[in-house]
Amino acid sequence: MPNLTGKVAIVTGAGRGIGRAHALALAEAGARVVVNDLGGSLAGQGNDLTPAQQVVEEIERAGGEAAANGANVADFAQAGELIETALGTFGRVDILVNNAGILRDKSFASSPSTSRDTSHRRGTRPPTGASARRPATTSAAA
Ligand SMILES: NC(=O)c1ccc[n+]([C@@H]2O[C@H](COP(=O)([O-])OP(=O)(O)OC[C@H]3O[C@@H](n4cnc5c(N)ncnc54)[C@H](O)[C@@H]3O)[C@@H](O)[C@H]2O)c1
Repeated sequence: MPNLTGKVAIVTGAGRGIGRAHALALAEAGARVVVNDLGGSLAGQGNDLTPAQQVVEEIERAGGEAAANGANVADFAQAGELIETALGTFGRVDILVNNAGILRDKSFASSPSTSRDTSHRRGTRPPTGASARRPATTSAAA
């Protein structure tokens, strides 16, 4: 990982699992991190800011800077608010990790297209689109 001092990263679904690992690694590399997580169940139900706040506390205990955000990134309006929150808190956005996703525990054959849409595409398009509309966001989305 390069030195990310001065950079600002948003990681969606960063309260747990792979997203949490991304957030901790980015912070360790020097980035200020917006830790987004809806905090719902494995099936995407409900919301709770606690997982995102716990990761923020982990980053701060290690000497980093982070902010928690509970937006549902599958929703275009909330994804836009996430980007605005990052810009308002840290002044820029350099890195967007579209990690958030939910589990639909089915085979490909039995998984309806609406389920695939919910699990993946809807978690990616809103944050990426909201970032692209803001000139202060500077770099690539993953
Ligand atoms: N773990 C695996 O083996 C695996 C394999 C392939 C793909 N993936 C994908 O990688 C990503 C992370 O997987 P994981 O195992 O760490 O999952 P996880 O369930 O441990 O963590 C995902 C996090 O995303 C959050 N989230 C879900 N929908 C959200 C939304 N709309 N807005 C904001 N936050 C939301 C959840 O609250 C959860 O904390 C997912 O997209 C998953 O589909 C995981």
